[in-house]
Amino acid sequence: MPNIPTFPLLFGRFLTNQFLGSLARCVFASRSSERIERLLTLIVAQPAATARTVALLDGILETTRATTKKPVKFKSESAALAQFLNLKDSRIAKISALMTWTGKLGAKPDPIVTPLSVTQQASFDLGKTLFSGICAACHQPHGLGMDGLAPPLVDSEWVLGSEQRLIRIILHGLSGPIKVDGRTYTLDMPSLGLFNDEQVAAILTYIRREWDHNAAPVEPITVKAIRASTATRTEGWRQDDLLKIP
Ligand code: HEC
Repeated sequence: MPNIPTFPLLFGRFLTNQFLGSLARCVFASRSSERIERLLTLIVAQPAATARTVALLDGILETTRATTKKPVKFKSESAALAQFLNLKDSRIAKISALMTWTGKLGAKPDPIVTPLSVTQQASFDLGKTLFSGICAACHQPHGLGMDGLAPPLVDSEWVLGSEQRLIRIILHGLSGPIKVDGRTYTLDMPSLGLFNDEQVAAILTYIRREWDHNAAPVEPITVKAIRASTATRTEGWRQDDLLKIP
């Protein structure tokens, strides 16, 4: 006779580890060094090599595709981080590659970013607030997008490239296939032309300077001119039309 109560128990344990894995993935994907440090402290406190630790480490590794290009930045190698890196597990080396801190051996130096003027900084700050309220619902606060919902903005050629194209995307939205950072997405983005010129400029200044981006800020007067020249447009942009614009 099988011992009936072990079934739900085993199942419960399986669920818990899977849940912990997703939790670790979400915390790591948030790219917040404070939250990740708390996660690492929690992992270090677990008995090593248990199914639970493995689930947590595997959860972090699920972010590899998104994080490899842009490792999560820590201010320094904290005690929690050092202890974590000392864990005896083959996954640690791979996870270490997903993180960087000042003084890390072989780490790339910080890119040199042109400072923003006081006005541009105010625009960036406004853009950050508006971005979290609207754009982040689809593109996510970390800007890495979400499968089936929205492509990434981090390292996107549309964000970093022509402001003429970028402004049009916000004013009238997008439809049909679009290639972003080597992957094609076939979704639709609604028009967000309800934002005024200052607000559009602010949001775009924000996404062009957040996440180690270093593209030029966008001025309201440029948005104003494009809004006027596309005033009769009623549909979302298609990639081919945008590519014809310099
Ligand atoms: C309702 C979800 C949604 C919202 C809100 C949204 N987007 Fe998008 N965005 C998308 C989708 C979906 C695409 C891809 C459309 C396609 O496949 O043609 C996209 C594409 C883009 C692109 C071009 C591709 C890329 O990833 O670089 C940019 C730039 C962009 N959005 C910026 C923004 C900004 C800035 C905001 C806020 C003002 C915003 N989006 C709000 C869903 C959204």
